Parts: sequence; C-alpha cells; structure tokens
Amino acid sequence: MEDKRGFNSKAVHSGFHASSGPVNPPIEESSTCAFSDCDDGARRFASRDKKQIYARFGNSSTDALEKKLADLEKGYGAILTASGMAAVNAVYFYFLDSDSHVIATSSMYGPSRVLLENSQFYKKWGVQTTCIDTSNIEIVRASIRPSTKLIIIETPANPTLSITDIQKISQIAKEHNIPLVVDNTFCSPYLQNPLEFGADIVIHSLTKSIGGHADAVGGVIISKNEELYYGLRSLVTTTGPTMAPHTATLFFKGVKTLGIRMEKMQDNARKLVGYLQNHPKIDWVAYPGLPSHPQFQLVSEKIQMKGPGCMLNFGVKGGLENAKIVLNNLKLITLAVSLGGVESLIQHPASMTHAGISPEERIKAGITDELVRVSVGIEDFEDLRQDMENALSKINSLVY
Ligand SMILES: Cc1ncc(COP(=O)(O)O)c(C=O)c1O
Repeated sequence: MEDKRGFNSKAVHSGFHASSGPVNPPIEESSTCAFSDCDDGARRFASRDKKQIYARFGNSSTDALEKKLADLEKGYGAILTASGMAAVNAVYFYFLDSDSHVIATSSMYGPSRVLLENSQFYKKWGVQTTCIDTSNIEIVRASIRPSTKLIIIETPANPTLSITDIQKISQIAKEHNIPLVVDNTFCSPYLQNPLEFGADIVIHSLTKSIGGHADAVGGVIISKNEELYYGLRSLVTTTGPTMAPHTATLFFKGVKTLGIRMEKMQDNARKLVGYLQNHPKIDWVAYPGLPSHPQFQLVSEKIQMKGPGCMLNFGVKGGLENAKIVLNNLKLITLAVSLGGVESLIQHPASMTHAGISPEERIKAGITDELVRVSVGIEDFEDLRQDMENALSKINSLVY
C-alpha cells in the first residue's frame, strides 16, 4: 500500500515505530545469532533476506535505517555501507567487468572519479571511462559505446553544481539498456528523488546531510527494483563494507531532522548568495537558485529539485591568492571538507577534494583554481554574514 505520509513524518517514523516501549531501535551488539536447531539455521541461510544470522548480513539496528532510507527515496530496498565511497565502489564492482566502458559526470566527487581513472584501481582491469558534462544530453548520447555498462551521474555535481536532467538521461540509458546510477548526496531525498525520474540506483554519502552532525561516516545504495537490490545486497554482504549498529543508530536519529535542517540551510544559503553577489570583492557566485545558473529551470519550476539546496560556490576578485585570505580568516565558517551538516564548512576543491584529478581535467570539468565551495549550515545568518564580511575585509583592496 502506498505510504501517503509527508516527508518529515516518514523521516521520523519510518523503519521503526513503537506503539509501546523504546521509540528508537536497539543498538544490537551481537556479531552472531543463535539458531534453535540445525533446521532453523539452514532455513535462515536459505532465505533471501538472511535475517538474524550474522551481523555482516544485517541486524535490527541496520534494518530499521535501511527501511527508513528506502522509504525516503521511494525505492524497493536500501543497503547500508561503511562509507559513501563503499557505496560508489559497490556499484562499480557490480556493473563493470574487464573492458567495459562507463560514462560519468566529469565534475563528480574527486575519489569517485579517481577510482575509475587511476591505473591502480578499475583501469588496471581494462575499464574505460568517459568523464563528460552530463548536463549536455547530446554529449552523453554521443559517448555511448556498445561496451557501455554504466552511466553514473552526480546532480548537482560536486563541486561545480552543474545539474543533469535525470529524466532525459534515463531515457537514453533505457534505450541502450544501460543502468543509471545517481549520486544524490548534494540534494538528499528531501530535495530530489532520482528513482522517480527513471534512475535505477541512488547512492548517498550518509556522512553529509542525512547524518547532518559530522559525527559518523556511512553510505547507502537504494535500488528501484528487487533484482538489483538482492544482487547488490549479496555483493556488499559478501565483500563486507557493511555498517556497524552503533553507526546506524547515529544516522537513524540524524535523518529524522533532515527536512527542517535542509530548509534552514537552504534559507541561509539563499541569503549568503544575495550578500556575496553584492559584495565588491566577489567576482562571481554560482548557486542552483540563481537565474544565471544554466539549469535554473529544473530548480525554479520544481521539476527535478524541490529547492536549490545548501551548496554554493564563489570566486574572489584577484583569484586564488585572495580566496586563501578569506578561507584563512573565517572564524565561524570552518575550513574543512565534507558538507550538508549543521555547521557551515568551506573548502578549496582544486587543492582538497579534487586534488587527485589532473589540473587539465579539473579545468575541463569546470573546477577552476579560484573556485571556493561552501556548505551552508544552520547558524544564525547574521553571524555567517559578519564572519564573511570580516574575512573579506582582510583582502588588501590594492591587490584586486
Ligand atoms: C557527492 C559525494 N559522493 C560520495 C562521497 C563519498 O562519501 P564518504 O566520504 O562518506 O565516503 C562524497 C564525499 O564527500 C561526496 O561528496
């Protein structure tokens, strides 16, 4: 039966809802489960879900979070992983074999791209990768080869915030029978549900807005259909990058407030964009909520994204040297990688998250040296503004 409850109600109650007793699932601290007799053990091993056998296959703490996340992304089922990168790697491992070809968003999270292109990783097995601007549907179409086994996109992309039309790309993928995976970390299920637009798999780094408190690392793979769900589940539970029960309970609690956190972060981000746009020392600002964003329509008409989110980029007049002055002088906005949490974070992708990509490829992907990425948190906007104002005032106006 279709669950008609709103997002916040599902975020709070899905996965575990007590009518009496504790309102949160237990932290099940047991690596293994007793069988009542041999037939019982054999029966559990023969079952598809492999419940109550051994913690690598899952336990009640991870089951509750998987159910909640599958509901929020409107998928058939979810598989928790030890990190976002473990989820990325699991989909590569599942869909790619030697000499297969993959199409990926050029501006994707640095390590997700490095894993495909670096000769120590998938490349050594003969996997060929085409990293392109997936917001350009014609380039995607032209890049498909008979050996293409996977299309993986990030939208909005990390860090450029370029937006790919999921529905259009999924049509192309379906025409060629190629699975489409969407990394939905930047939006979270509150702002975007890629499975509704034709994606086969959604992945997240839970470390970001779903957890929301910078206290745990985790990932998830959510499948639209049963077959892919059991295939990927078997891969993850066999290879072992599964999530510990303590970690699952941190995410279970964090995700309950995702909706209200995202609203506040987005509101702050909109205000910070307005402030930066009007600042004489700022060269440019990129944000999905600005009419100047190339795919603004997909956001403004709430076609694909229900809102522009909490991530923004800017460039400072005078380039990287002046940008560094700002980054080094912020006191409240923290100089750190990661994103989507309650605390505002700022970083320099070219020398940090995307340093593993060659300078030429970075420039081709739009990750310029002066680009500064901000993840806006839930602090009071006036404090964020003052912090930015103070840091920008440290730039000697003669320099720019
Ligand atoms: C879009 C995106 N996908 C995946 C990851 C990897 O996640 P994790 O750090 O949890 O392994 C990140 C991390 O920053 C990310 O930004």
